[in-house]
Amino acid sequence: MASSLAIFGVLMIMALGMLSYEAEARAFFVFGDSLVDNGNNNYLATTARADSPPYGIDYPTGRPTGRFSNGLNIPDFISQQLGAEPTLPYLSPELTGQKLLVGANFASAGIGILNDTGIQFINIIRMTRQFEYFQQYQQRLSSLIGPQRTKQLVNQALVLLTVGGNDFVNNYYLVPFSARSRQFALPDYVRYLISELRKLLLKMYDLGARRVLVTGTGPLGCVPAELAMRSRNGECSAELQRAASLYNPQLIQMLRSVNSQLGSDVFIAANTQQTHNDFVSNPQAFGFSTSKIACCGQGPYNGLGLCTVASNLCPNRNQYAFWDAFHPSEKANKLIVQNILKGDEKYMYPMNLSTILALDSRT
Ligand SMILES: *[C@@H]1O[C@H](CO)[C@@H](O)[C@H](O)[C@H]1NC(C)=O
Ligand SMILES: *[C@@H]1O[C@H](CO)[C@@H](O)[C@H](O)[C@H]1NC(C)=O
Repeated sequence: MASSLAIFGVLMIMALGMLSYEAEARAFFVFGDSLVDNGNNNYLATTARADSPPYGIDYPTGRPTGRFSNGLNIPDFISQQLGAEPTLPYLSPELTGQKLLVGANFASAGIGILNDTGIQFINIIRMTRQFEYFQQYQQRLSSLIGPQRTKQLVNQALVLLTVGGNDFVNNYYLVPFSARSRQFALPDYVRYLISELRKLLLKMYDLGARRVLVTGTGPLGCVPAELAMRSRNGECSAELQRAASLYNPQLIQMLRSVNSQLGSDVFIAANTQQTHNDFVSNPQAFGFSTSKIACCGQGPYNGLGLCTVASNLCPNRNQYAFWDAFHPSEKANKLIVQNILKGDEKYMYPMNLSTILALDSRT
């Protein structure tokens, strides 16, 4: 199914881990695609799912949860830094009562910025629907703790948005001569995506979000799926790398412009492409034996088809930057979150998560 992308998105906190125990942990809301989906798609009639082994093999329960990882994903590591439990999928029947105070995860594998991204997955939760659920969540919380406290909880929450990779992989480049690629030259398509994303961010602000980590696309051309389909000698796909290198700087520019319009640093860019480029250019420096071959899969680079019980499976998942053909391993997710937490301007703009946590604890 080629669920989604391979992007390395992300964020964090840490220096303040200790502080977070003093008060109730800050709420955390997650929006986006398979890189951050904690299991919503398990409840949908879709082919974009990660609910069978060996997904989850290194999760504490050892079982699949719907996360596109061998273990924890990026939101899980951020929750740890907040001193909070992992966010539950919004569609989970367990998300009731006091658990609503932790926040919620609205992400859905396969979605993109555009409504026509991921149509082959049929029934997935697109961005506008994720926002409708966020409104519904606020109504439910409000009947529990009242409108005043609900508004406060939402305004003070940390938010993560990871979206955009699928608009390339599962739309523009999904098939040769795709409708979008006939409609737009690549630079124009990127400008269109950024302008549509801007609208989504303003909607998010309207719904009460005030601290939002927005990840860029990962190194789209270097994921095992693209190496398998487009590469002769293991070099990254130049075309998809070009897409990522057009998208990420424009994302930062747009966030800067939205922040100045709002008069506040609401939106924070997480440069996951840079983080991933580090893995790709020197995997050994991060303890990986490879950043080209997926741990789970088949064909060249284990990059073809789905990760299933019938696939090749590596014995030591920590030695692989990629778990499946598109998604980072738990170990890579952890490193990505470390960069979100403590990275300099090359990774986090205008500031990193530890700075955010320190700032927000004072206000
Ligand atoms: C996407 O779909 C939603 C719901 O149908 C709609 O409100 C929205 O305007 C659409 N967005 C675009 C860019 O067409
Ligand atoms: C990121 O976090 C570290 C502390 O962990 C801090 O020393 C550094 O200055 C921060 N960098 C930026 C750009 O905020």
